[in-house]
Order: sequence, then structure tokens, then C-alpha cells
Amino acid sequence: MKSILVTGGAGFIGSNYINYILKERDDYFIVNLDKLTYAGNLENLITSQANKNYHFIKGDITNSDLVNFIFEKFKIKYVINFAAESHVDRSILGSEIFYRTNVIGTNVLLETARKFEVEKFLQVSTDEVYGSLGNEGYFTETTPISPNSPYASSKAAADMMVLAFNHTFGMPVVITRCSNNYGPFQFPEKLIPLMIINSLNDKKLPVYGDGLNVRDWIYVIDHNEAINLVLEKGKIGEVYNIGASNEMQNIDIVKLILKYLNKTEDSIQYVKDRPGHDRRYAIDSTKIKNELGWKPKFSFEEAIEKTIEWYVQNKSWWQRIITGEYQKYYETQYKL
Ligand code: NAD
Ligand code: DAU
Repeated sequence: MKSILVTGGAGFIGSNYINYILKERDDYFIVNLDKLTYAGNLENLITSQANKNYHFIKGDITNSDLVNFIFEKFKIKYVINFAAESHVDRSILGSEIFYRTNVIGTNVLLETARKFEVEKFLQVSTDEVYGSLGNEGYFTETTPISPNSPYASSKAAADMMVLAFNHTFGMPVVITRCSNNYGPFQFPEKLIPLMIINSLNDKKLPVYGDGLNVRDWIYVIDHNEAINLVLEKGKIGEVYNIGASNEMQNIDIVKLILKYLNKTEDSIQYVKDRPGHDRRYAIDSTKIKNELGWKPKFSFEEAIEKTIEWYVQNKSWWQRIITGEYQKYYETQYKL
């Protein structure tokens, strides 16, 4: 039995990982450590909660005593660190928690993993650590690290720490850097769920700047399959980029959602740009394809429809979220 600590497993990507992997593998025991911040939601894990190979612990990755207790009690041998403050706009409104969780939290996990001699520590990172591209070129694993937002800089700091622990202590680490994910259970502060939900509620769709910024989209299950491959077969000390070669301008995504939902484009509202807004991300995934044999299984056309449909069919999931804290955030962010 592989005893794996998954942190942040009640968030978007982590919960999809747990739901997916518990169906695929019966030799994995998953301990999910999640603080249940505004972004964590146990409803995402309904299909996993009764599984005998799953255990949930509410707690903070910066809590060293708790993390030590978990490693000892569950004989943790693998770590997948999804836990993070993950939203760029929130990091612009207030950065402190980003450095606390994303940097200090990763340090606590690394120190504990070192003490308990884990077999692999997988840091879930992002293509945002590379900064922004112009019209040409792609991020490769050797592109210089040049983060632009507080969020991206906290993730870059964590990446540097993870690699330093490998260099100095020989720790068995791997890092994955993925592009923009979409799929079920994504918190509606992010572009795709926000636009779907606002459309369904006949609200304005706030597009930053000129709407021509480019993101490279990947379905969350493709990301999670890549993560698991890197966990099982990735070479120690290596970084793997993950992306599905699907660049889109934001405005085209918004129009596609409106079209699918049979809504007019009148609801599009161009709003003040995000400060320091990265223009373009595009990932070169040649390394993981050639070395580990990974490739994405979902086409964008198929998976975006599946995703929109999921939000249409699961209104009660997001209706419970877009009250309270979310409303306050929305009003501050969009200056209503
Ligand atoms: P998310 O915001 O949906 O979920 C984050 C989860 O971490 C939540 O469940 C939250 O409760 C938990 N968490 C936050 N602080 C914690 C703490 N101190 N201790 C324990 N748990 C804590 O994020 P996501 O979109 O699922 O992203 C997961 C990871 O993937 C992050 O590390 C992010 O940087 C990375 N990533 C995300 C994307 C993307 O497109 N969403 C792309 C590439 C990489
Ligand atoms: O690239 C990977 C990253 O993708 C992850 O590391 C982050 O955790 C994840 O949040 C995501 O970051 P982005 O900033 O690219 O995602 P977001 O959904 O916030 O924005 C996508 C694009 O849409 C971006 O160019 C900003 C724009 N946007 C976003 C929102 C929320 C809008 O135009 N209007 C909006 O209301």
C-alpha cells in the first residue's frame, strides 16, 4: 500500500485528483490534509469520502506539529503538495497569506518529509513561475524563472526551495509546472467558472483589459494523470512542464461560453485590467511526452462542453458558494 499525503485535496485540482486516483488504484492510501479555506470544499469529495483508502484531516500545512503527527501516524512515504493560495487577483488584494501558505507551508512539509525519509515529494507548481511570453515562443523547463504576481513569486520561491532540498540533502523531489486548468469543482473566482455562472445568472461578464491575453488550457483530468505519472516515474530532481497545447485568447473563451449557453454577447463588459497582467502563457510539454510517455486525452472542444454542462447540472454546488465571503470578494474585486 502506498501511503500518500495529499495536501489541498479539498480544492479544485486536488479533489479531482483524489476522486480520480481512488477509482484507478486500490493500492493507494490517501491522507488529505486541507485547511478548508474559502477554496476548500468537502462536497467535492462526496464520491471518495466513504472509500476505506481515504482519510481527511482538517488542518494547516504550516502547522509543523500536526504535519509531524500525520507523517508518523500514517507512515507517509509520498507527498503531493497541492495546497496553496491559488488566485492571482487575491494575491494582488493581499499577499501575506500567499507567502505564509505557499512558501512557509512548503518548507514545513519539506522539513518533515526529510525527517521521515519519504520516497518522493511532488511539488505542484505552475507555468506562472516563468513570467510572461510575447507573441512567439513557449515555456520549457529551462526558461528562466521570472514571476510577475505575488502569487507567482510565492510559487517560484517554493520551487527554488524544493530544488535546493534536493541539491543540499539529496531529497527525492519532483516538480510539475502546469498551465491553466478547467473542469468540475473549480472555484468560481477563476475565468471559466466565473463566466459560466455569471452567464447562467444573466450578470455582466467582466473581461480584463482588451481581452486578448492568452492562456493555455488543459482539462483537470489530463493534468492529474500527468501528476500521477510523475509521482510514479518522474526522475528525482527534475521539473516537468504539463500542458495540452491549447492557447486561447480570453475573449474567445468568453464568447464560446455565451454561445454554448445561447446568450448574446451584450453581457460582455470590458473592465480595468489586472495590474501586472501577464500577456501570454504557452507550455512546451515535450519533456514529459518524450521521457514519460504522457499525452493529454481530452480535446478542448469536448472537455469545455463537459465542463459547462457540469456547471449547468450542478447549480446547487455553486449556488452555495457564491454567497457570503464570495459576494464580499466579488464586490471588492469588481468594485460594485
Ligand atoms: P484551489 O484554490 O482550488 O485549492 C487550494 C486548496 O488548498 C483548498 O482546498 C484550500 O483549502 C487548501 N489550502 C489552502 N491553504 C492551505 C493551508 N495553509 N493548509 C492546508 N490546505 C490549504 O487551488 P487549485 O486550483 O486546485 O490549485 C492546486 C495547486 O495547483 C496549487 O498549488 C496551484 O498553485 C497549482 N496550479 C493550479 C493551476 C490552475 O489552473 N488552477 C494550474 C497550475 C498549477
Ligand atoms: O497558469 C496557471 C495558473 O492559472 C495557476 O497557477 C493559477 O492558480 C490559476 O488561478 C490560473 O491563473 P490565471 O491568472 O491565468 O487564471 P484566471 O482564471 O484568474 O484568469 C485567466 C485569464 O482571464 C487571465 O488572463 C485574467 C482573465 N480574467 C480573469 C478573471 C477572473 C478576466 O478577464 N476576467 C476575470 O474576471
